[in-house]
Amino acid sequence: MAKETWKPGNMLYPLPAVLVSMREKSGKYNIITIGWAGTVCTNPPMVGISVRPERYSYRILKETGEFVVNLTTKELVYATDFCGVKSGREVDKFGALGLTALPADQVRAPLVGESPVNIECKVKEILPLGSHHLFLAQVAAVHADEKYMDEKPRRRDESIVNKKMMAQILTMGAWLTIISFLFLKLPFFAGLFANEEQHLTGYFVLFIVSALFNGFNVRDDRFGIFRGLDENTGFLKVFFIIIAVQFAIVNAALIPFAPFRWIGSMFSCVPFGIQGWIAVILLAVTMIPVDMVRKVAVGGEK
Ligand SMILES: Cc1cc2nc3c(=O)[nH]c(=O)nc-3n(C[C@H](O)[C@H](O)[C@H](O)COP(=O)(O)O)c2cc1C
Repeated sequence: MAKETWKPGNMLYPLPAVLVSMREKSGKYNIITIGWAGTVCTNPPMVGISVRPERYSYRILKETGEFVVNLTTKELVYATDFCGVKSGREVDKFGALGLTALPADQVRAPLVGESPVNIECKVKEILPLGSHHLFLAQVAAVHADEKYMDEKPRRRDESIVNKKMMAQILTMGAWLTIISFLFLKLPFFAGLFANEEQHLTGYFVLFIVSALFNGFNVRDDRFGIFRGLDENTGFLKVFFIIIAVQFAIVNAALIPFAPFRWIGSMFSCVPFGIQGWIAVILLAVTMIPVDMVRKVAVGGEK
């Protein structure tokens, strides 16, 4: 196997960047992004971070002997970059980024509230290695965001549908029954369609579109049901494809060719007017606020 040989360099990749938070003796907080970080001992649990002596953070770490390693997330990408290019000499990084400084248990350095895991550390030794000095520190406490802890390992005899899912299904089922009843029985809705065939086609559309809007409800346990849609283009793609297919099925008979008329009759669908579409979509959209009420009342999380 042919190999190239390179001059010595740091090639241990990938490695996670972490946010290291600290507190100056004056009480001022700072954060530095650290790439040279890692676990160095299991028992006692120890970590190592390497910091250049010219960093503003270096003096604080050396003087206080305490810091917190905060793991990052996708949402913290900007903050991680910011803390790696701005200096605490000029900027209050917590303030500039709107990050929450929470009190730690064992050290005076703050936890970054937005980070999912915070590791409190007490420095045991500083090894001057060259460009960087290695801070070897013992882990004094670990905090993990509760929101990552709510899923217990599933037992084989456990139901696939948990209580929260059941509450969602029952609420939406009940609400769909109510809007179906209103749609089919109220003369107002019937009056928006020219005949019974159109009215029943509208009911078919109501069912499908309600299910689609319910798809938003299950995206988040609280109200962030539209959050991150730009990153999940697949969801919107499927949403609009189903709407387009639905629209095409209902209106197929408008195209004066036998195959299209056949599609219409296959699904027992006839085209109906704009006021029918508006009524159907408005009724279906009510799935969203109704499920939000359910989330507040029974199924939501903190
Ligand atoms: C991804 C990334 C990783 C970094 N890793 C380290 C590191 O391991 N050690 C270090 O001394 N500086 C590292 N830096 C540079 C410091 O984070 C940067 O110089 C920072 O602005 C220093 O902040 P301070 O002046 O408030 O101490 C890194 C920067 C980035 C963006």
